[in-house]
Amino acid sequence: MSVTDGGRRSGLRTVHVPLADRSYDVLVGRGARHELASLVPPTVRRAAIVTQPGIGVEVDPGVPFDVFQIGTGEDHKHLGTVESLCRSFARVGLTRHDVVIGVGGGMVTDVAGFAAAVWHRGIPVVHVATTLLGMVDAAIGGKTGVNLPGGNGDGGKNLVGAFWQPSGVVCDLDLLATLPPRERRCGYGEMAKYHFLTGDDLLAMDETERIARCVQIKADVVAGDEREGGRRALLNYGHTLAHALEIETRHELAHGEAVAVGLVYAAHLAHVLGRIDDERVRQHYDVVGRAYELDTRLPDSVDHARLLALMGKDKKALSGLTFVLDGPDGVEVVPGVSSEAVLRALDAMAAER
Ligand code: GLY
Repeated sequence: MSVTDGGRRSGLRTVHVPLADRSYDVLVGRGARHELASLVPPTVRRAAIVTQPGIGVEVDPGVPFDVFQIGTGEDHKHLGTVESLCRSFARVGLTRHDVVIGVGGGMVTDVAGFAAAVWHRGIPVVHVATTLLGMVDAAIGGKTGVNLPGGNGDGGKNLVGAFWQPSGVVCDLDLLATLPPRERRCGYGEMAKYHFLTGDDLLAMDETERIARCVQIKADVVAGDEREGGRRALLNYGHTLAHALEIETRHELAHGEAVAVGLVYAAHLAHVLGRIDDERVRQHYDVVGRAYELDTRLPDSVDHARLLALMGKDKKALSGLTFVLDGPDGVEVVPGVSSEAVLRALDAMAAER
């Protein structure tokens, strides 16, 4: 795998995701959206562009297209939205030789990707990520899906979905210029995680280089473990507490903001377990809190016992309390973490406030 100038417009990086017959390119750089047509499979005759009101990013897939808007916010990320998209696809006669194009952040690419995965049992999809979080995480790697609403143990986030790799992904850095500060923070939360997955000095890179490197790291992990049988779980570094915080704060903390807190928590937990030293914990604060200026504090209002219970239910847990933790051999999946250690790390973190 390599980050190269793919011979498209100058300054663009092409990151290849090698997955046999599901391989694809991710184009990263300013103006990358103008190369969208080069990622659309040659047999495609028409496109269904899925986006949201307010995104306002116009793209040219190089074939005739229709534009379909989906609602904004987690409340619209459910099967009903996929059904109405499929009805729209039926109305315009989208065939299995056509393409879905998701233009938006993680919600749009998750929903558009899932609709593409089930329409005619699966048609090509290309993503145009319009947020930093989408560029470094959601649009890459083929996880698609929607929430199953329900608060009585019969629902949850991203519970219905499919692994459905895109035919290509566009990360146009020009789109980041108008990104609202909160959306940018959320992207930084996911970006910060990559600092600990490899030894790369991401802070020494310019923005294009850094985003391309994050995409490359994700591509490497996904190429080795497409369906999360093992190593792909490392991409959930910081996410176990983050998911619990999102639920506990009723999404007052957005995903990337919660990941920022979760990364620092993971460092405290690794420290409690004797896996890393003080210096490495400080490095987590330095990257997350100083370099990306993210809030690393545990919100005052959260109850530690409830967080513990929620983390036990995290769908990424393989058995009991399982975390992705740093250690002498780098970041790895650590099963069998005791409740006592989890609570001690929460206390240690709260004491930093
Ligand atoms: N966002 C984590 C993954 O794609 O596996």
